[in-house]
Amino acid sequence: LTGVPGFPLPTIHTQQAYAPDGDFTARWTRADALQIKAHSNPSVSAGQNSLPSQLIMPGIPADFPTINPDVWVWDTWTLIDKHADQFSYNGWEVIFCLTADKNAGYGFDDRHTHARIGFFYRRAGIRADQRPANGGWIYGGLLIPEGAQEQVFKGTAYTITAEWSGSMRLLDPRDNKVSLFYTDMAFNRDASGQDITPAQAVITQSLGQIHADFNHVWFTGFTTHTPLLRPDGVLYQNGAQNPYYNFRDPFTFEDPNHPGVNYMVFEGNTAGQRGVANCTAEDLGYRPNDPHAETVQQVLDSGAYYQKAAIGLAVAEDSSLSKWKFLTPLISANCVNDQTERPQMYIKNGKYYIFTISHRTTYAAGVDGPDGVYGFVGNGIRSDFQPMNYGSGLVLGNPTDLNQAAGTDYDANPQQNPRAFQSYSHYVMPGGLVESFIDTVENRRGGTLSPTVKLGIHADASAVDLRYGNGGLGGYGDIPANRADTNVSAF
Ligand code: FRU
Repeated sequence: LTGVPGFPLPTIHTQQAYAPDGDFTARWTRADALQIKAHSNPSVSAGQNSLPSQLIMPGIPADFPTINPDVWVWDTWTLIDKHADQFSYNGWEVIFCLTADKNAGYGFDDRHTHARIGFFYRRAGIRADQRPANGGWIYGGLLIPEGAQEQVFKGTAYTITAEWSGSMRLLDPRDNKVSLFYTDMAFNRDASGQDITPAQAVITQSLGQIHADFNHVWFTGFTTHTPLLRPDGVLYQNGAQNPYYNFRDPFTFEDPNHPGVNYMVFEGNTAGQRGVANCTAEDLGYRPNDPHAETVQQVLDSGAYYQKAAIGLAVAEDSSLSKWKFLTPLISANCVNDQTERPQMYIKNGKYYIFTISHRTTYAAGVDGPDGVYGFVGNGIRSDFQPMNYGSGLVLGNPTDLNQAAGTDYDANPQQNPRAFQSYSHYVMPGGLVESFIDTVENRRGGTLSPTVKLGIHADASAVDLRYGNGGLGGYGDIPANRADTNVSAF
């Protein structure tokens, strides 16, 4: 890495693997994240994309189709086994989505406190160009019997609950038992929507069964909800330390190097009281004598210490995946960014990739990057992870002009690229396919699935495949299974 004139060099990361239960935490440093700005064009005309095109999702047309007229759809996941292969069931592809009722009188921005996990299905094995434009998904309804998720909060004070993201494990591809890992949320709010006490976020397991016949897919179970993890304030920040703590989005997997052991990655924050100005030289990550290095004092004076994302790791202590123990965070982003969401472990050619999603507006003072996917690569599940693409971490951003203020998805900055919030909550699937949801395109709100895109991933570099689909955009909501269950009944 030769570096960009006027910018610091990225931190040296060895990719060396450490014991999963060890205490090494890799750092996504300020020196790393500043490579995004270093590779952003300072002189594009306002509202264009200033970032390298191979790291940017092609623009979604403003006349996108919607998946369903009755429900908002956002974070979406698939039916996976311990290796994150995506299974069809009895000839049907199935997806799980956060949904909210479009007819209940609230808008897309109010969805979070009303979120319920719903499911959709469609026939497997049909090419995207032979499906309806919206992907052809049939809405199957809600997964969890109404109110069942509230049992986790028995005896606590709350006013409304929500079901936030997670993942769905097909426990054995030879039968129909599935395990949902999700974030059970309880909010305790006054009439004006202010928190009386911090929201409770509990990583929760619920078991169910998938069924299918010639006509449809349905689920049973999900009546018992087992709390697995609450942030401990020691390894992961809790609500007493920071009412705005992030703790959610469990994704489980087996490491081929540790057969029979189940791990979980999740979104967290570095433990400790909010507002304590304690980022370190290691969090900044500058090389000795780098002329463009900031001092720790400069960074602390900027207030950057309010942003302290962490990608968490836990290990299962029983084979039914109902008891988990925290391990030390895999990656911290202290004084860099406050949210590393929906992390996943993606194992390819012996390399371990962590993909996660983050926002422009959750960056700390002085560092910047677009909404989208960030990636880190190492030689094991716990490694000195190398941020991908020039050491920056950026993998797949929305078209963004980093020279202009972000604005928001609901209140656009007219100077900003009208696709800076086009998509979010990306999930990287087998073969480098990436699904996500549409948020805002040219002020039109989405609440539906994006066109799938395809990434080429080679060592610590990635690029959007522009030969895939139509100029890089595949089918809307094209989320194909790459495996079939082995219990296929004849029909
Ligand atoms: C990402 C996310 C997740 C969370 C969900 C809540 O879009 O912030 O981290 O589970 O949305 O709606």
